[in-house]
Amino acid sequence: MTTIKVGIIGAGQIAQLHADGYKEDDRAVIQAVCDVREDTAISKALQWGSQVCHTNYRAILADPDIDAVDILTPHHLHAPMILEALAAGKHVMVQRPLALTVADADRIIAEARKRNLTLCVAEPLLSHAPLLDARSYLEAGEIGEPVGIRVKVGVGAPEGGWKVRPESWLWRFDPKKCGGGPFLFDGIYGALVSATHLLDKVDQLSAWIGRTEIYPGYFVDAPASVMWRHRWRNCPGTLELTYSPEMYIRSSHYPTDTRIELTGTKGIIWLRTSPANVTMSAPVQMYRDGRLFSFGEVQEDWAQNFKATTRNFIDAIFGSAEPQCSAEQGRQLLRLAIAARDSSATERIQKFN
Ligand SMILES: NC(=O)c1ccc[n+]([C@@H]2O[C@H](COP(=O)([O-])OP(=O)(O)OC[C@H]3O[C@@H](n4cnc5c(N)ncnc54)[C@H](O)[C@@H]3O)[C@@H](O)[C@H]2O)c1
Repeated sequence: MTTIKVGIIGAGQIAQLHADGYKEDDRAVIQAVCDVREDTAISKALQWGSQVCHTNYRAILADPDIDAVDILTPHHLHAPMILEALAAGKHVMVQRPLALTVADADRIIAEARKRNLTLCVAEPLLSHAPLLDARSYLEAGEIGEPVGIRVKVGVGAPEGGWKVRPESWLWRFDPKKCGGGPFLFDGIYGALVSATHLLDKVDQLSAWIGRTEIYPGYFVDAPASVMWRHRWRNCPGTLELTYSPEMYIRSSHYPTDTRIELTGTKGIIWLRTSPANVTMSAPVQMYRDGRLFSFGEVQEDWAQNFKATTRNFIDAIFGSAEPQCSAEQGRQLLRLAIAARDSSATERIQKFN
């Protein structure tokens, strides 16, 4: 196998960023494109140089020429599509979340192991330079031992970001398809990705998730407040997620400003984990010994994080790298996001072993 032939399932908003990654990688080719919307399937196949398009994903799974599939569909379809793809012998990448229940995640992990196939959960944040830099400064002891982490996710007016088709939003307002409100597997999940990347495992979490009507009958899960504890030195973590419909936030992606404050025994690191920027003059800043330091180039092109993600999938298939986010890690993150949703609904702290 010198070239991995990839089938893209779900050619919506985020698929373009994945397709750009495969097109740039000499070791991969987009062999087929599938979308339930025929016009989308045809136009994206033409645009991405693929000879084949389908409206039924099973046609991709039945094609013996296809080695791997990239599943970019609404959340409720992830688990059934992954399980069928693995049964058909395909390597799989899936966008977050891995599944909508831990039981489905367990079935997926068992199936991938049984068939010895690669399974990656696409997580572009894990290629985001400021996050990786912050972790290496922390590990080098630059701010001493961690004592607390705060994440702020500020969602602004849609006009500031890229153009999103209304149908890309619609399924997100249906909890059966999305798994919660539109921000659960978005800003809340992303905050948990960053916090666990910096400070590893979480052993308890509680949340209060509000509801704001943004259009008659359509609610977003904001404002929200999530609180957790990392096992590392019992370090507390908090997230505040807000929606400001009249705030213009310029962005090449979604109009969301995300920043993190990581406090240690000797200093503080601030970092930006979104392409939008309303507050910080550098992607990473550090306070130590009475001085403020700034690091990194301002990175507004989020696409390179996605390219790193598809590159990692191809590397993992060839066996030259481990998945950046394995199915097991995807399961952990899923558990935390579900815990936030359930903690808010039940008003109870969720504990993990
Ligand atoms: N990591 C990130 O930064 C990030 C950002 C945005 C979206 N995402 C994730 O990417 C995934 C897709 O999100 P999106 O914004 O592109 O959504 P979208 O609605 O724009 O795209 C989904 C596509 O799937 C198609 N589809 C629906 N049912 C299908 C089926 N049965 N078979 C084939 N195609 C089908 C739809 O027609 C649509 O074109 C989600 O899991 C989402 O959470 C991740």
